Amino acid sequence: MSDFPHLSSAPRRVRIEQITWQTADVISLRLRGLDGSLPGWQAGAHIDIHLPDGPVRAYSLCGVPDPGPDHYEIAVKREAQSRGGSQAVHDRLRVGMELTIGAPRNLFGLADSAPHHLLLAGGIGLTPLVAMAHALHARGDAFTLAVFARSAEAVALRTVLVNSPWQARVQMHLDDAPSRRTVDSLVAEAPDGSHVYFCGPAGFMQRAREAAAHWPAERVHAEYFAAPPAAPAAAQASPAAGGFEVRLARRRIQLTVAADQSIAQALMAAGVAVDTVCEQGICGSCVTPYLEGDIDHQDLCLSPQERGSHLALCCSRAGAGGVTLDL
Ligand code: FES
Repeated sequence: MSDFPHLSSAPRRVRIEQITWQTADVISLRLRGLDGSLPGWQAGAHIDIHLPDGPVRAYSLCGVPDPGPDHYEIAVKREAQSRGGSQAVHDRLRVGMELTIGAPRNLFGLADSAPHHLLLAGGIGLTPLVAMAHALHARGDAFTLAVFARSAEAVALRTVLVNSPWQARVQMHLDDAPSRRTVDSLVAEAPDGSHVYFCGPAGFMQRAREAAAHWPAERVHAEYFAAPPAAPAAAQASPAAGGFEVRLARRRIQLTVAADQSIAQALMAAGVAVDTVCEQGICGSCVTPYLEGDIDHQDLCLSPQERGSHLALCCSRAGAGGVTLDL
């Protein structure tokens, strides 16, 4: 439903062309378009995958960004605490199956220029950063890809790293290696003017966020798998945590969003279709333009500039005056 320029989600059909075991619990999938070329994408983008029997999950593209590719590549780790997505990918997807996917969306793009790019990867968070490394190498930009993992065997996409033309840019920081560095020290030693990008599990994200807390916001880029634990507490403390009105300008209707309801849930209860995937303010699928309102944005995907005109329906709340959506 969004008209946000980089959030188009027109569905496509693909066939699973190849599945490769990358580690004991990570597989990569090559998805080929059934109708020829697929939409181009930029490093950092992800796609929604409609899994068998309903769930839709977002996965980062990890291949070489291309303006007109005929296939996409993703890598998925089996997560013990998953909401069902990673288990369905591992247990049910097989070579030859056809799937519906959304067009690439990019909420984690590279800066146009910087003296240095520091890419920090925690576990399976490596996937979008591999695409970034491909792109930066092609641009001739200076970068470092620091990979944090339990051991060499646990590094997702390790064969890609060691066979890439930019392998000299890769640092491995393994739990079982005495030379392991910390996220804090790498951020502290980054050249002046660097941009930092990080993706990984919750604890890793918190350490990276804290290490770069004093950096200008425009030089810090993050992509989350899940909302950090602090988010629900923040929502409860919000002055907009109670109920409020939401007005749909084009439909000329008004609805009440209850205190325990998201805007997306209120709209869907009223029969208004809303695209939701993560329901945590991460994936961008529910981002929608608004016309007015005192918005308490609680997403992790929009920039301060984007928040001036758009909000995530799954997590944002409004003050006493409610919010008017451009719907
Ligand atoms: S459903 Fe993912 S940001 Fe709202």
